[in-house]
Amino acid sequence: MEEILIETKIKAYAVAELPDELKALAHLSFAATHGAYAPYSEFRVGAAVLLDNGVIVTGNNQENAAYPSGLCAERVALFYAGSHYPGLSVRAIAISAQTGGRQTERISPCGACRQVLLETENRYQHPIQVLLCGQETVYIAESAASLLPLSFSGSDLK
Ligand code: THU
Repeated sequence: MEEILIETKIKAYAVAELPDELKALAHLSFAATHGAYAPYSEFRVGAAVLLDNGVIVTGNNQENAAYPSGLCAERVALFYAGSHYPGLSVRAIAISAQTGGRQTERISPCGACRQVLLETENRYQHPIQVLLCGQETVYIAESAASLLPLSFSGSDLK
C-alpha cells in the first residue's frame, strides 16, 4: 500500500493588497449578486469572469421551482463567456455571495462548477485563477485543476 498526498496551494490576500485588476474583478462579482434570481434559497451568488482581451462577463445564480433546473452563478457566467466570446481564453473568475443583504464569508464553487471551470481551462489550454471573495480576504487558487484533484476530463475519453 502506498499513500498519495495531493496538495493544493491557496494564496490568501487582504482585499487591499490585491492587484487592481483582481480587486475590480472581486468587486464586480459582488455587484453581480444583486441580479441573482434566488427566491428559494435567498442566497445570492455573483461571478465575474475575466477574458483574455480584458473584457469582464458577469453572471449570477438563476433558481427554479424545480430545483435542479436552476444554475449556479459560475456556470451562468462561464457559459455566457463561452457562447459570446468563443475564441477568448478565461484568465480569472471571482466569486462572491450575499444573503440577508450582507456579503457572506468566502464561498467555494460546487463540484459541477469546478468541472466546468476545468473544461474551460482545457478548452483554452490556459489556467484560470479562481478568486473566492470575502469582505476582508480573498483566497486565490492558481488553477481550476488545483481545486479538482483526480479529475475526469476529455483526455480520459481518448
Ligand atoms: N450557488 C452558486 O451559484 N454558486 C456556488 O458556488 C454555490 C451555490 C447557488 C446555487 C443555489 O442557487 C444557491 O446558491 C444555494 O445553493
